[in-house]
Amino acid sequence: MLGSLLLAGSRSRLVRRAVSGFPPSRRVVKRFVAGDDTEAAVAASRRLTGSGLTVTIDHLGEETRDAGAAAQAAKAYVILLEGLAGLGQGHGTEVSVKLSAVGQALGADGDAIALDHAREICSAARAAGTTVTLDMEDHTTVDSTLGILRELRADFPGTGVAVQSYLFRTEGDCHDLAGEGSRVRLVKGAYAEPPGVAHQKKEDVDRAYVRCLRILMAGKGYPMVATHDDRLISISESLAARYGRERGDYEYQMLYGIRTDRQTALAGAGHTVRVYVPYGDDWYGYFMRRLAERPANLAFFLRSLTSK
Ligand code: FDA
Repeated sequence: MLGSLLLAGSRSRLVRRAVSGFPPSRRVVKRFVAGDDTEAAVAASRRLTGSGLTVTIDHLGEETRDAGAAAQAAKAYVILLEGLAGLGQGHGTEVSVKLSAVGQALGADGDAIALDHAREICSAARAAGTTVTLDMEDHTTVDSTLGILRELRADFPGTGVAVQSYLFRTEGDCHDLAGEGSRVRLVKGAYAEPPGVAHQKKEDVDRAYVRCLRILMAGKGYPMVATHDDRLISISESLAARYGRERGDYEYQMLYGIRTDRQTALAGAGHTVRVYVPYGDDWYGYFMRRLAERPANLAFFLRSLTSK
């Protein structure tokens, strides 16, 4: 219930103004966001990769309604990737892109604009010796995102995509995406979705996660198991063993600032662990989704408002 309210708030301009304009918010945001600018993102990446983790960087922003802002968002990625290229080969960092930040939400031409910008980002990623993964947003964007993924993979076969186990359709999408060379990030899903398209109960979302994971582990692609849930991590281990996958034939992914001890422990045990590092000043939507996932985060946020 509280989670649903927070997710509703994540789309309200009024709540956005109140939360974003409140100075103590920034203190709490720092727990989940690496910083405002490219330098902060590259520095976080260096620090994390220096401690044995790998990284995917997200330039914060979503649902851009302005063509100029979409072009700016793409440019921010290109600048970021040039910064990563400067770290030299084997920097261990890729980027994650929300297509709605680069034009997908711009009406009839949205898909074409987002595809153009995504190509630009993929080219810069290739020059930096790395790859791009497309985030998945609300259910209305899934067909468009998978369509753009197909186009991108023709030229940039390493492009990955996130899929959300809470959507009824996702098992089918996993079957379609489990082929040779594909990179699929499996998440539970972070948006408020109606009962007509998505499981509503946590246990149903978790069961669907296991079914999707089985399809991906049994397939020929590269599964990216994105969860902080210990039970699902241990099921991943069993499925990987059942389907003859070695460490390195799949990876774990977690969010910046969440369960950092678990991230290091998994990496220490020889797993590839990728940390999703967001940066930029448009942190509101991302931040509200993190609050919605865990009521304790909201308590932490509220406490910080009253402390100096
Ligand atoms: P669950 O929410 O059940 O949490 C399991 C445990 O993890 C909790 O008990 C708690 O200990 C810890 N935890 C989880 N969330 C926490 C938080 N916010 N703060 C503190 N502790 C927390 N979603 C989406 O719709 N599209 C996308 O593209 C992506 N991309 C993405 C990338 C990566 C790398 C990750 C890890 C996640 C995403 N997500 C996402 C978000 C995802 O859908 C989901 O909302 C969160 O990962 C939380 O779900 P868990 O699987 O961690 O389980």
